[in-house]
Amino acid sequence: MIPAPGGELLRAPLFHTPRNPFRDSSAFESYADGGLLIRAGRVAGCGDYGTLRDAHPGVPTVDLRGGFLLPGFIDAHIHFPQLRVLGNLGRSLLDWLEQCALPEEARMADHSYACRVAREFVHALVSHGTTTALVFGAHFAPATAALFEAGESLGLRIACGQVLSDRRLRPELHQTPERAYRQSSLLIQQFHQRGRSMYAVTPRFALSTSEAMLEVCQALLREHEGLLFQTHLNENLQEIAEVRRLFPWASDYLAVYERFGLSRPNAVMAHNVHPTESELDRLASSGAAVAHCPSSNAALGSGLFPLKRHMNAGVRCALGTDVGGGTGFGLLKEGLQAYLLQRIAPDGMLLDAGHLLYLATLAGAEALGVSNETGDFRTGKSADFVYLRPPANSPLAAVLEREQRPARVLAAIFTLAGAESVSEVRVEGSIVYRSAAAEKQ
Ligand code: GUN
Ligand code: ZN
Repeated sequence: MIPAPGGELLRAPLFHTPRNPFRDSSAFESYADGGLLIRAGRVAGCGDYGTLRDAHPGVPTVDLRGGFLLPGFIDAHIHFPQLRVLGNLGRSLLDWLEQCALPEEARMADHSYACRVAREFVHALVSHGTTTALVFGAHFAPATAALFEAGESLGLRIACGQVLSDRRLRPELHQTPERAYRQSSLLIQQFHQRGRSMYAVTPRFALSTSEAMLEVCQALLREHEGLLFQTHLNENLQEIAEVRRLFPWASDYLAVYERFGLSRPNAVMAHNVHPTESELDRLASSGAAVAHCPSSNAALGSGLFPLKRHMNAGVRCALGTDVGGGTGFGLLKEGLQAYLLQRIAPDGMLLDAGHLLYLATLAGAEALGVSNETGDFRTGKSADFVYLRPPANSPLAAVLEREQRPARVLAAIFTLAGAESVSEVRVEGSIVYRSAAAEKQ
């Protein structure tokens, strides 16, 4: 599939959620014989193939039947320096940070090592169908720059920031607030809104940041237009108790961030497994979003995410893989985990495939403030998509031979598809990934 300059009409079953299915029961849209018309990197039409072909007779068709077109996946929470600590099961958050994550994060001081991991990381994103991600960078500015550069070299939409901390980690991961301000300012100048890159102010969590460091975050957000903000919130009971002790003036965990104006639109708070009702109401009214990371919440034993309470309070939620506390890069797997854990949560929601698709695509775009640009196939958006093609003789191919009902097909994809089913990925119409199997065809 070489993008044609005059546009092309891709023919395959397609799915997208141009609206929020938690609020609108007709939000999930599918076309069994679908068409996606792309021109100059933009979606110029999405619907029934025959209708689009008749309306645009001069545009060549690319026949992709045998696979499925979905909007590119959006990962709302992931850590680049943790790729190589995936799979450290059996620990809880604070112990896992100390024993597994932070020693590896300290290795990012070695720039050539960081560059290698950055390349591995962006390849892992794209080979799982992720086209947009909000990424925790490294504690070191050059390593964070390496991640931006690796994302740009593939053409991904990456929001990232240098991770800021000045206490309780390891000394080599700490910066002074002054140095954090200087280095972050330079990274913002260099990368924010350069091509598809965006900068996210990134204090690690309240436990590792002093009030002076949170003031630096506030100053950066005031001084630059359009920045994102990301951090962790209410992940683990031991962490929450420590935060209470460190910030005795705060009524709860969120109040620490609020004091510095950090709960705001385009802020993404990761986890929020143990919120109070008041925190949920305040998150909703501030416009901040929560990155739900079900694999990580289970792997680190953090708890069962109260999705229904978030939805009832009107808090925006998207999905995050939380590599390396999570279990991998796949947003399809993350969607399945969300479904499974809601099935067993005491007050869980019964999610359908449309909910999962929304959480893995448009919800992420909304959380990151890029829903005008990506997240679904509405006309005018960037043509960011993943083409899934189940391998011959796979269980998914067998299921789909007999199942044609769209919601069932999509549910089977969430259940059974992984990176082996990702055939091609495009951002703004340009190919950013092709699988080895696709290359051979
Ligand atoms: N809280 C502070 N740092 C981290 C991290 O790296 N992973 C997770 N899951 N939680 C955190
Ligand atoms: Zn995290």
